[in-house]
Amino acid sequence: MCTFLIKNGTLIRHNEILEADILIKEGKIAEINKNISAKGNEKIIDATGKLILPGGIDPHVHFDLPTPAGATSDNFETGSKAAILGGTTTVLDFVTPQKKQSLLQALEWRKNDAKNCYTDFSFHVSPVDWNENTENEIIKCVKDEGITSFKIYMAYDIGLNDFQIAKVMQVVGSQNAMVTVHAENGKVIDFLKEKFVKQGKTSPLYHALSRPAVLEEEAVNRVLEIAKLTDCKLYIVHISSAQAMLRIEKAMREDQQVFAETCPHYLLLEETLYNQEFDKSAKYVLSPPLRTQNDREKLWAALSLNTVQTIGTDHCSFHLKGQKDVGKDDFTKIPNGAGSVEYRLALLYTYGVLEKKITLNQWVSLVATQPARLFGLGKQKGDLRIGYDADIVIWNTEKEKTISVNNQHQICDSNIFEGFKIKGAAETVFLRGNLMVENEQLISEPKGIFLKRKQ
Ligand code: URP
Ligand code: ZN
Ligand code: ZN
Repeated sequence: MCTFLIKNGTLIRHNEILEADILIKEGKIAEINKNISAKGNEKIIDATGKLILPGGIDPHVHFDLPTPAGATSDNFETGSKAAILGGTTTVLDFVTPQKKQSLLQALEWRKNDAKNCYTDFSFHVSPVDWNENTENEIIKCVKDEGITSFKIYMAYDIGLNDFQIAKVMQVVGSQNAMVTVHAENGKVIDFLKEKFVKQGKTSPLYHALSRPAVLEEEAVNRVLEIAKLTDCKLYIVHISSAQAMLRIEKAMREDQQVFAETCPHYLLLEETLYNQEFDKSAKYVLSPPLRTQNDREKLWAALSLNTVQTIGTDHCSFHLKGQKDVGKDDFTKIPNGAGSVEYRLALLYTYGVLEKKITLNQWVSLVATQPARLFGLGKQKGDLRIGYDADIVIWNTEKEKTISVNNQHQICDSNIFEGFKIKGAAETVFLRGNLMVENEQLISEPKGIFLKRKQ
């Protein structure tokens, strides 16, 4: 395995910025120091004027997700290729068992789905019901498979009821693992969906109107109370609204162990995008839906206050033609989701750091350090420290581009950030010391491995 010496870069950590060189040996960060002298066997990379970051960790992606409209347009190979080209070196996807399938068998199948992954990966495992085996299966996932997080849904047909949520939380809490939750009141959403369809209100706008922010706030409130009663750590995915965020901040002030994730689309896009014809609005059908300017401003404020800990993309891409358009006459049939795994670092750098809404340190913390720490990778990834995996991004701050379907790597016939200008690019990317991306080009075959995580 090659030894690399990265010279003259500016290292950005979650809590400091330093000018130093980094030596990469046998896949690990071997030394961080000023003026490390070359021994002769290293490949030297001059990073003058560039930022050095820990590889990004996207805590929320859906690659190769089966739906009635077909699998997502990105599988593990294409999605992770886009991820690594954007500076993300680890992704956390999901295991969603079929009804009656064991969590462990579903996990084995999912590992197989991920075999051509360019990034390292692990999964949040989803109990989709509660039966006599669920407790043991959860414990085995933790102890044998290094699964430290379990995802539950309060909406969709895989949603759990409150009894089942409490059961899952009790076991997960007893293992000191974490429950992650999609928090929307699914039953009332079903009621509103049925009402709108009966009234002939079938356009994508009614997707948003059937999922008002109050139903996110209600579910967040309920799940926080259940987590408190069962003494379980809670991570709420894709927070979209100010009300939900305020409720989470109240729980944080009361010292509940709760963590929040938001996504680039809730920070940068708004509900007015649904007021367009189907071909323009269907790509924004995702859940929770896009919200108002007020919600966006609250989420940006939460990033700067550190009450949102992570940025996940919820990458879940579907083509407009042949997938989203199955719901042309009925929004309830449009597969939910959109993709941005490739742009997570660049969007947060451009619209967060450069617009002075967050600092460089907060950027690194949100996209790498906190996801690593919360999901059991904190002693291995998400930081630039001696002995850590050499997952390293050399970030060129001068690069600029306009996001478009015509230059994206992710596979989809549309892009929710079409036309957005981004500054900064992952010029060089290492994964465990393997040079994966050079001059913004992928130069390696897939090298991703399944990560057994540790609490
Ligand atoms: O619309 C979305 N977010 N689709 C993916 C599944 C989920 O709810 O996270
Ligand atoms: Zn969700
Ligand atoms: Zn999701």
